[in-house]
Amino acid sequence: MKPREIFIVVSILITGGIVIFYTIWPSIVWTFVFFGPVILLGYYDIFQSKHAIERNFPVLGHFRFVLEKIRPEIMQYFVETDTEGRPINRIYRSLIYQRAKGVIDTAPFGTQMDVYKNGYEWMDHSIYAKNHVEISDGFRVLVGGPACKLPYSASILNISAMSFGALSKNAVLALNTGANLGDFAHNTGEGGISSYHIKPGGDLIWQIGTAYFGCRTKDGNFCPDTFKKNAEIESVKMIEIKISQGAKPGHGGILPASKNTKEIAAIRLVKPHTTVYSPPTHTAFNDAEELLHFIKQLRDLSGGKPIGFKLCIGKKQEFINICKAMTSTGISPDFITVDGGEGGTGAAPVEFSNSLGRPLRDGLSFVYDTLVGFDLKKNIKIIASGKIITGFHIAKALALGADMCNCARAMMMAIGCIQALQCNTNTCPVGVTTQNKSLMRGLDVNDKAKRVAKYHEKTIKSFAELIAAAGISTPENLNRTHINRRVSMNSILRYDEIYPYKENGSLL
Ligand SMILES: Cc1cc2nc3c(=O)[nH]c(=O)nc-3n(C[C@H](O)[C@H](O)[C@H](O)COP(=O)(O)O)c2cc1C
Repeated sequence: MKPREIFIVVSILITGGIVIFYTIWPSIVWTFVFFGPVILLGYYDIFQSKHAIERNFPVLGHFRFVLEKIRPEIMQYFVETDTEGRPINRIYRSLIYQRAKGVIDTAPFGTQMDVYKNGYEWMDHSIYAKNHVEISDGFRVLVGGPACKLPYSASILNISAMSFGALSKNAVLALNTGANLGDFAHNTGEGGISSYHIKPGGDLIWQIGTAYFGCRTKDGNFCPDTFKKNAEIESVKMIEIKISQGAKPGHGGILPASKNTKEIAAIRLVKPHTTVYSPPTHTAFNDAEELLHFIKQLRDLSGGKPIGFKLCIGKKQEFINICKAMTSTGISPDFITVDGGEGGTGAAPVEFSNSLGRPLRDGLSFVYDTLVGFDLKKNIKIIASGKIITGFHIAKALALGADMCNCARAMMMAIGCIQALQCNTNTCPVGVTTQNKSLMRGLDVNDKAKRVAKYHEKTIKSFAELIAAAGISTPENLNRTHINRRVSMNSILRYDEIYPYKENGSLL
């Protein structure tokens, strides 16, 4: 029986019991003083839409707030530390919730960071700060090189790849509805396009992984016919070939059997209720040139939509080889998504999450520098992902060379994720990463969609205020000279000193 049903049965038994016993022991009516408010609270919990945990676990859900106060931090999602040396997990998590809910998001009393610790980073402000930076003008990025017929004007912040399967149907609906409300894009993840991605009408970046879900032949290879059909869907604005993701590069996706429902299996064209592993590598290409010809094939099949690839940098030479092949073949992607080794996942071996994959800043600066070195950057946009949470994270990524950013876990938190760390067990208590219908009910799509849009809006606004304080009028003017990092007690380096710029064309 589900917790909600248990509550309803218990509340009926208590109320019935009191009514029956009243005839032989009238004083029992006083127990209503205790049970009455508890029962009312439980029914309020079931029907309210703001808190998924109380919706799913009436009355009991409230103890979460008490437990949160006393439990140790279970996941150091945010590695920066506060003045006491503790991870600032709780601070950023609260910030995401505040921004998503549209409540006050300023903080009293001053800095919460340990500013003398190695690794502390900040941006230079200006005496000549701007009064206002116009967001609507400069904050869209046009993605599409010369070969692209249908360029896409993207927001600088979008929802990173997370599949239907890793996420629940309600989570996908909330994210896509939020993307539609806020006019930004929603990456499908490698699990294919479901009706929940299409119905709300939000712009989609369709991701194609090594298993080619949604464009796959029976034996698991790429299928041009089904690709063309899906690529022509109006809301598919860009297409991303997933080479790797930072949390598990070289591993491929994992869909646990418990989450592989009949519906998901039908979308992916796999057997239901079995654990589905995407292969670690693609069968559609074996080297740099073949990758570029695959990009051209997808561009042609899609009618000229922007085509890019996502990777976490591993062997640097392999990326250099792709750039060389771009020069020799004349074929380029329209965008490259650089994911950091610190990126998130629904399920991955711990060794892969902890010990593979170049961290975002190192991978991002390398990709930018290499593209500039081969004189290729002008036609290729860079998307950065890996713990992008606040306006300052966007500023750092853009300073290093990104044109725009994606975020996954912050968006999960905007729709109610409490970091229960049960994404891989189908028991997510707030209905974000579960296929259990009862738990999924906790996630109210309309309420959470508004939160996604609000979080996006407020984060971009904070970024705009930040660059205005630095006297910068458009995001493109941000560069590595604007960001500082403490490397020891008496030594501070700017990003351009840590990651020196390359001359345009210097690698040709
Ligand atoms: C639940 C979950 C599912 C994910 N699924 C995919 C996926 O299907 N394809 C992919 O490329 N990345 C996937 N990712 C990685 C994210 O898209 C992103 O690259 C990474 O989490 C870094 O962003 P973050 O730090 O903002 O979470 C997933 C991440 C999470 C948390």
